[in-house]
Amino acid sequence: MAERVAALLLADRLRPGRPLGLATGRTMEPVYAALARRLGRLEPALAAQVRQGWCSFNLDEYVGLGPQDPASFAATMARQLVEPLGLDPGRVRLPDGRAGDPDGEARRYGAAVAAAGGIGLQLLGLGLNGHVGFNEPPAGATVACRCLALSHHTRRQNAGAFGGDPGAVPRRAITLGMAEILAARRVLLVVTGGAKAAILRRALGEPPTPELPASWLQHHPALTVIADAEAMG
Ligand code: GLP
Repeated sequence: MAERVAALLLADRLRPGRPLGLATGRTMEPVYAALARRLGRLEPALAAQVRQGWCSFNLDEYVGLGPQDPASFAATMARQLVEPLGLDPGRVRLPDGRAGDPDGEARRYGAAVAAAGGIGLQLLGLGLNGHVGFNEPPAGATVACRCLALSHHTRRQNAGAFGGDPGAVPRRAITLGMAEILAARRVLLVVTGGAKAAILRRALGEPPTPELPASWLQHHPALTVIADAEAMG
C-alpha cells in the first residue's frame, strides 16, 4: 500500500507539473520511508533531477509550533522527508506556525499556493472525525486556507506526539481549505486501519455534508482512494 502511494508520488515528481500537496500523520510515515527507498534506487542523474525540481506544500501546521519543536509538522517533514530524500528544505513548504499573525499567515500561505498554480497531486489522510488536512467539521466545500480551532476529538487523536496529553496539543492550526484541496488536479486519499473503516464508508457513501468534510471529495473529478483491507471493513 505504502509502496503504491510512494510510486505515484515519485512518478509525479519525475514529470513535475504543479506542486505536490503533502500530508503528515501516522498513515504517511511508511509512505515517505518507501519514497526515500525508491529515490535511493533511482539512477543518480534522475534522483538529482527529482531533488532539484522538488516543490511541495504541506496541508497544515499547528499554531505556535516552529521547526525547532519536534511535534511540529515542519520538524516531522524534516525527519521523514527532507533528510531521508536529501531535499532542499526551502522546497518543502509549510505554513509558519510561529507567525505573529496566524490569520495573515493563512492568507499568505493560500496565496503562495495559488501563485504556484495550485496543487497538482494532493496526498490526503483521513481524520477519525472525517477531517482532511485540519478542516474540522463543519467545513463547507468552499472554505479557503485559514486558521481555526482544533476539536477535542482531534487533539485527543494527535496527543501521541505530545506525550499522550491532549491538553498539550495546540488549540489552533493553519490548514489549506476544502477549496484548495478540491481545486487540486488529482487527489490521493490514503486510509489504513480498522479504526477508520466506518468513517471511510460514510465519507464515500453518504451525501456530501459539512459535518463530514472528507465527503466533499466525492465531487472531485480525479479522486483515487488507496485503503488497506482493514480500512475497507
Ligand atoms: C491529522 C492531520 C491530517 C491527517 C489526519 C490523519 O490530524 N492534520 O492531515 O491526515 O489527521 O492522521 P493519521 O494518519 O495519524 O491517522
